[in-house]
Amino acid sequence: MLHEIPILDDVDARKLPYTESGGAKQVYLETYGCQMNVSDSEIVAAVLRKEGYGLTRDARSADVILLNTCAIRENAEQKVRHRLGHLQARKRKVGGALRIGVLGCMAERLRHKLLEQEKLVDFGGGPAASRALPRLLRESDETGQAAINVQLSREETYADIAPVRMDSNGVTAFVSIMRGCDNMCAFCVVPFTRGRERSRPVATIVDECRQLIDDGYKEVTLLGQNVNSYRDGAVTFAELLLRVSSLAPDLRIRYSTSHPKDCTDELLHVHRERANVCNYIHLPVQHGNTEVLQRMRRGYTVDEYLRLIGRARAICPDVSLSTDIITGFCGETEAEHTDTLALMEAVRYDHAYMFMYSERPGTYAARKYTDDVPQTVKKGRLSEVIQLQTSIAAENNQREIGRIHTVLSEGGSRRSTAQLRGRTDTNKMVVFDRQGYEKGQYISVRITACTSATLMGKAVGMTQQER
Ligand code: 5AD
Ligand code: SF4
Repeated sequence: MLHEIPILDDVDARKLPYTESGGAKQVYLETYGCQMNVSDSEIVAAVLRKEGYGLTRDARSADVILLNTCAIRENAEQKVRHRLGHLQARKRKVGGALRIGVLGCMAERLRHKLLEQEKLVDFGGGPAASRALPRLLRESDETGQAAINVQLSREETYADIAPVRMDSNGVTAFVSIMRGCDNMCAFCVVPFTRGRERSRPVATIVDECRQLIDDGYKEVTLLGQNVNSYRDGAVTFAELLLRVSSLAPDLRIRYSTSHPKDCTDELLHVHRERANVCNYIHLPVQHGNTEVLQRMRRGYTVDEYLRLIGRARAICPDVSLSTDIITGFCGETEAEHTDTLALMEAVRYDHAYMFMYSERPGTYAARKYTDDVPQTVKKGRLSEVIQLQTSIAAENNQREIGRIHTVLSEGGSRRSTAQLRGRTDTNKMVVFDRQGYEKGQYISVRITACTSATLMGKAVGMTQQER
């Protein structure tokens, strides 16, 4: 399962080759939700560009506005509905020519509702419908009627489409390796919006990574809802990592997301053996109580999970771990909630993504259980979880002070151009004075201070080789 990232509504038009296609219809594309959606938007951009569309960063001058959406929690959907309300108002102001489309998980989930009942959009396409977009756009233009394609696919992996890296910093890139999910966790809508699991052929992944290396990229994140079930013939995810990591010693490799029930020792050994496979693993636990995990249909017990953490730390010394946690799942008692806090204390994650349970229609939990933890209780428990995690992360970061890390510089810091920002091998953000260093370089940085979220440091030289 992947993560929500900040909304990208600021596409850098200078990096978009298709702004050259003057006269063509201009598309404005906004991405919500997880990294997979960012990757999907890059494919949508490639499909539209091939059809002669231009892409603009200015929504006001666009002929077509596309929202690539997320349905993981209700508030993700509310954000999009709110935005659609604004866009409809603009459309009424500028007349009928503007076309508004919804892509991604919300289009899949709400199907005809957004088009027919609420008349909020002119066309929509689920995550497997990118190739059909030009046709949907034409249909909507020609007929003035709503057009939609929400067919789920068992095969579509967009293996042959070279993504247009719209929001790229030129250093780090996402590469989708598989799509869909077969896990059916009780709370999760993803298997319904993204369909069955399917893996992209290994050769196309390796080719895409090679191209990124040629284009000067220094880090790839391999994406899938559950990368551990990647399979192309005899090639497992561990084998894929070996192949990608042997392309170039100075290409860092990360991935997201690993399901704890399928995280193998073979994979842990790849982390240990390959210097450029980052020493960081995201292992979403979701909860610290075995009965709740069973209700969630996660497929592991707390003991099994803790044993996995033990193996990860034994095989990969100093490995950095992060997780996802849900508070207030159906039937969660105070004692069960306390077990989550205890698990966090036991593992001491460097980072966690923490959420209140949000019932999603059609999921196992929505059909079989009652969403019976009051909102205020869910919220209170979430605050406790966040508070604990913040203090653990701050303590972990304190221990970094004085250490030297190899940081891959991703560009200027948000606050000041006199500073650079980048991540350690262990995925910790570091900010440091530029001192003449550049984006895309591996720099040795001595850590001098920290908050719970960021390390501050001083560059002490270039790093010749990764780690
Ligand atoms: N409510 C709250 N959080 C959810 N997640 C997935 N579905 C839900 C839901 N219905 C969380 C899980 C997952 C992360 C990406 O989002 O923790 O790992
Ligand atoms: Fe992740 Fe489970 Fe959702 Fe699949 S069903 S995307 S494994 S949380």
